Amino acid sequence: MIGVEDLVKRFGSTVAVKGVTFTVDDGEIYGLLGPNGSGKSTTMKILAGILRPTSGKVFVSGIDASADPLRVREITGYVPETPILYESLTPIEFFNFVGGVRGIPRKALQERVEALVRAFGIEKYLGEMIGSLSFGTKQKVSLISAMLHDPEILILDEAMNGLDPKSARILRELLLQFKEEGKSVVFSTHVLALAETICDRVGVIYNGEIIAEGTVEQLKEFAHEESLEDVFLKLTESQDEVAGIVQALRETL
Ligand SMILES: Nc1ncnc2c1ncn2[C@@H]1O[C@H](COP(=O)(O)OP(=O)(O)OP(=O)(O)O)[C@@H](O)[C@H]1O
Ligand SMILES: [Mg+2]
Repeated sequence: MIGVEDLVKRFGSTVAVKGVTFTVDDGEIYGLLGPNGSGKSTTMKILAGILRPTSGKVFVSGIDASADPLRVREITGYVPETPILYESLTPIEFFNFVGGVRGIPRKALQERVEALVRAFGIEKYLGEMIGSLSFGTKQKVSLISAMLHDPEILILDEAMNGLDPKSARILRELLLQFKEEGKSVVFSTHVLALAETICDRVGVIYNGEIIAEGTVEQLKEFAHEESLEDVFLKLTESQDEVAGIVQALRETL
C-alpha cells in the first residue's frame, strides 16, 4: 500500500509537483499518465526514496518515507526512465553487486537471477559488458535488478520502453503475478493502450497536479470520450491544439 499526501517538489523556481495526493492499494497497479514535464518521474523518484519532497507525506507499507527512507528503499524496486547501470560490469556482476548491497542471501539471489534471466531471455548476454548491450537488453538488466530482492512495491518509470513484444508480455505477466501476491505497482507510460490493459486505476497528472483519477472506464465516462487517448488529450487541453497543429502542417507542407 502506498499513500501520497499533498506532495510538493520544487527545483529552484520550478514547482515540478504541486500537491499530489493518491493511494495505491495492495494488489493494485496504478498508472501515472501525463504529458512530458508534468511531474511523473519526480513523483516516482520521491516514492522510491531517491528525492526528498519539499513538503507532503509519502507512506509505503505504513512506513513514512521521510522518517525512514532506507527502510522504504529496502522494500521498493525502482526502474528509472533511463537505466542506471555500470557499463563496465557484466550483467551477472551487476546482479551480484546489487544482491550484495541489498544483503540478499546467496542462494535466494542465485535462484531469482536464474528465474528472471530465463524469463527475459538474456542468458547469452550475462558475460558481456553492460556498455555493449542493446537498449532493450539494458532495460531488461535494469528491470531484473529492481526485482532481485522480491520488493513489496514496484515503481516502474516507462519500464516498457525498448522491450520487444515478447519481453513486454513477460513483464506484464510478472506484474500480474506481483498483483496476485498483494503487492503495489506504480507504472508510468505514454502508451495509453498499455495503461488501459495493465492499470487498475490511473491518475492523470498535468503541470504537477493530478487532474483526474479513476478506472479507465470512469475516466471515459467523466470526459465523455470513447478512447483513453481522447480522454487524455481533452483533460490535458491538447485536443484543440493538436487539431490546430495538424491544420498548420497541412497548409505549410
Ligand atoms: N533535477 C531537476 N532539476 C531541475 N528541474 C527538474 C529536475 N528534475 C525535473 N525537473 C523539472 O520538473 C518538471 C517535471 O519533470 P519530470 O521529469 O518529473 O516530468 P515527467 O512527467 O517525468 O516528463 P517525461 O514524460 O518527459 O518523462 C520539469 O519541468 C522538469 O524540467
Ligand atoms: Mg519522466
